Amino acid sequence: MAFALSAERERELEEIVARYPNKMAACIPVLHLCQEQNQNWVSDEVITFVAHRLDLSPAHVKGVVTFYTLFNQKPVGKHQVWVCQTLSCALRGAGEILSHCEKRLGCHVGETSKDGKVTLRTAECLASCGTAPMMQIDKKYYENLSVPEVDRLLDGLLKG
Ligand code: FES
Repeated sequence: MAFALSAERERELEEIVARYPNKMAACIPVLHLCQEQNQNWVSDEVITFVAHRLDLSPAHVKGVVTFYTLFNQKPVGKHQVWVCQTLSCALRGAGEILSHCEKRLGCHVGETSKDGKVTLRTAECLASCGTAPMMQIDKKYYENLSVPEVDRLLDGLLKG
């Protein structure tokens, strides 16, 4: 089925395009908008849609999608957990937190829990080094983490 935006997101798309000097410059924010609408991943139908709306080739849009890790190229879980692994977080226990996430979710980094609720990822520095160790769940930061706190957060995601 062809991809389409909701009426509200169509308005957002028009607003985004109007903010840039040309349509090509709006490619990344428009892809984010479409990814949100498409259960958080960019399918071939989404690429075709964005290429058509921005007067770009599908190859150009695909190039953008494959370059940036924030665009998902396959279906993902309802929630995404990003564990920061860079120096400050690593020194303050990110490795233990990541291992614990893998054990609790029953999947490895880059995979999704069997119930489809959580995709586990790692991230390079998320610019919150002063509150390490930290992770991002969807769009929100969780900082000064401990394993029990991570358990509490994962419980909420897995029950929700
Ligand atoms: S090292 Fe983790 S936020 Fe900077």
